[in-house]
Amino acid sequence: MAEVRVEHLDKAYGADKALDDVTLSFPDGGFFGLLGPSGSGKTTLLRAIAGFVIPDRGQVFVDDQPVENVPVEKREIGMVFQSYALFPNMTVADNVGFGLSVRKVSSAEQRKRVDAALDLVQLGDFAKRKPHQLSGGQRQRVAMARAIVTQPRVLLLDEPLSALDKALRVDMQIELKRIQREVGITTIFVTHDQEEALTLSDQIGVLKDGQLVRHGPPREVYNDPRDAFTAKFLGDANLIAGTPEENGLRLVDGALIAGVKQSMVAVRPENIRITVSEPNTPNRLRAELRQRIFGGAIGTCILDWQGTAIKAVARDIEFSELSDTGLVWISWPTDCTIELQ
Ligand SMILES: Nc1ncnc2c1ncn2[C@@H]1O[C@H](COP(=O)(O)OP(=O)(O)O)[C@@H](O)[C@H]1O
Ligand SMILES: [Mg+2]
Repeated sequence: MAEVRVEHLDKAYGADKALDDVTLSFPDGGFFGLLGPSGSGKTTLLRAIAGFVIPDRGQVFVDDQPVENVPVEKREIGMVFQSYALFPNMTVADNVGFGLSVRKVSSAEQRKRVDAALDLVQLGDFAKRKPHQLSGGQRQRVAMARAIVTQPRVLLLDEPLSALDKALRVDMQIELKRIQREVGITTIFVTHDQEEALTLSDQIGVLKDGQLVRHGPPREVYNDPRDAFTAKFLGDANLIAGTPEENGLRLVDGALIAGVKQSMVAVRPENIRITVSEPNTPNRLRAELRQRIFGGAIGTCILDWQGTAIKAVARDIEFSELSDTGLVWISWPTDCTIELQ
């Protein structure tokens, strides 16, 4: 197990900055979720940690030791990618044991460790199968077993679940978390699925254009995203802009959001209430209900407030008193106003 730290990492491809001054530490034994849109530098950061990418500037440390001069195969890092790239002609056991045979581990020891790794991913009965005889989820578990069988100090997972369909992905998320807890290995998990990152991680980091814009425990980052990008990327957010005054944020329709010092706030769709009669709360706006969308248990309403689209979600039953369109009130609890910089 090990702590990983990167300091001031830069990596440019031509004029493109894949990594732009990234400083971040990944706690020992923790599950760190790395998030960001496509092209934001997630894979480049993992590859720099693994040693496949040489940064233009900055350092990678494992347990406070710089690994600049440590080649990929000596960094003791396990990796799983989106495409699991198993050897098609080898059995599951041989695929898992491959890294051990390369390392000249004795065959008795290999067998023991392969069995243990397959048990861990609950594929003990599948050792003799070939990859084409497995489902997508099972193949991904083989890839996991292969990554951890060499007992690496760090596990890097690059969108390992994105090729799986939704239901299987959710099963695998639970499985992945269990495996990580059991092995206790420092894990860096890349995803572009914010829900997946929030569910699995002890800590998350958000990348944008090669820069780390925000990091911290998922709940903290979700509740206080600080900037509009993080607010919108992590979950959904209604952005409301106005003019800061002494007492708060003055909006175009004259309403005041008290206590706010910045010129923009975000309100999560799940915190917005819609009522026909005027609510007795300070943060209330007159808005036009444009659309009610039935979604099973959870319903969505799209509203228009002064030309700005506002989204509200709630248990569908809570919207049942509303007609499909018309003038309504939207309001939210004072502590649900998120101030943005
Ligand atoms: N080998 C490479 N050659 C040229 N450009 C690259 C290379 N690898 C990554 N990039 C560029 O760096 C940026 C970040 O890429 P990447 O780290 O793969 O992003 P992500 O994994 O977040 O989608 C992108 O603009 C991408 O096009
Ligand atoms: Mg990537």
